[in-house]
Order: sequence, then C-alpha cells, then structure tokens
Amino acid sequence: MEINPHDYDLTLKIKEEKDVAVSRQMAKNFAQKMGFSLADVTKIATVISELARNIYRYAKEGYIYIRKKEVGPDKATCIEIVAVDKGPGIADVELAVTGGYTTSERSLGLGLSGVRRLMDSFSIKSEVGKGTVVIVEKRRRRF
Ligand SMILES: Nc1ncnc2c1ncn2[C@@H]1O[C@H](COP(=O)(O)OP(=O)(O)OP(=O)(O)O)[C@@H](O)[C@H]1O
Ligand SMILES: [Mg+2]
Repeated sequence: MEINPHDYDLTLKIKEEKDVAVSRQMAKNFAQKMGFSLADVTKIATVISELARNIYRYAKEGYIYIRKKEVGPDKATCIEIVAVDKGPGIADVELAVTGGYTTSERSLGLGLSGVRRLMDSFSIKSEVGKGTVVIVEKRRRRF
C-alpha cells in the first residue's frame, strides 16, 4: 500500500531510540490540540510509542504518519495513525496481534494486541522481506 506523506499532518521518522520518546510526545501534543480527553490522549500516546518501538526494534527504521480526519455520515473527528517500515515483516500476522506472541526476549508480546484494544479501528498488512504497515484510528468522543 502506498502512503503519501503529503496527505498527513505530521511525519515522524523513527531511526534512533530517542525517536520513540519524541514520537510519543509529538503524538500527545497533536491529540491534545485535537481536543481528545486526557484518557484518550494517553491511549493515543501509548499506541504511538508501541508502534514506534516495534519499528525501532524489528525494522530498525521507518515512519509514523498522523492526521486528523472526519469520517462517516456524522463527520466524526478522528485521529489516524499509520506506522510504515520496510523491515523484515511478520510471518504470522494473526498470531502477532493475538497477544502473547513475541520474537523478543524479555517482552510480553502485548504491544500489537494492546494497540488494537486501545483504538477504534486497527488494520495491519505485513509481508515477509518487504515490511509492515499498521493503520489505526480513534474517534474523538464528546466529553
Ligand atoms: N514492525 C515490525 N516489523 C517486524 N516484526 C514486527 C513488527 N512489529 C511487531 N513485529 C513482530 O510481532 C511480534 C509481536 O509484536 P508486539 O509488539 O505485539 O510484541 P513485542 O514487541 O514482541 O513485545 P512488547 O511490545 O510487549 O514489548 C514481535 O515480537 C515481532 O516478532
Ligand atoms: Mg512491541
């Protein structure tokens, strides 16, 4: 799937360990400005740092794209987050998102399943030897 960076409000390059923390902070600011509740801002920041950490750990480098969009007939305001890398890919995507599956020592393997649980929509495309794309969305609730 082709992602055009120009379609997004924010591009975060993940290459060094510090980029994980930086992306978390940038995401937090963006979600706050969009008017998400504090609880949802925290969830969104957590999701982005999990996705960034996976990129850093498994693919070494990649990008996270973020945008605000309006979806559905009611034009609900959403945040869309896309994590893209050209790393090794995931052999069994189903297993990876189920939770409890990890190829890292000292990890719980709950990253992707947690990401799925915290968001309203979750999709992942991965091809071994080519890379991984994760797309998630969260709707802004009225509060
Ligand atoms: N971007 C990626 N590229 C290649 N493999 C990935 C990527 N993201 C996840 N994986 C694979 O999917 C598995 C599950 O990922 P997940 O984030 O759920 O758990 P984890 O990273 O192993 O552990 P945790 O996130 O709990 O520290 C990983 O162990 C890894 O094998
Ligand atoms: Mg992880």
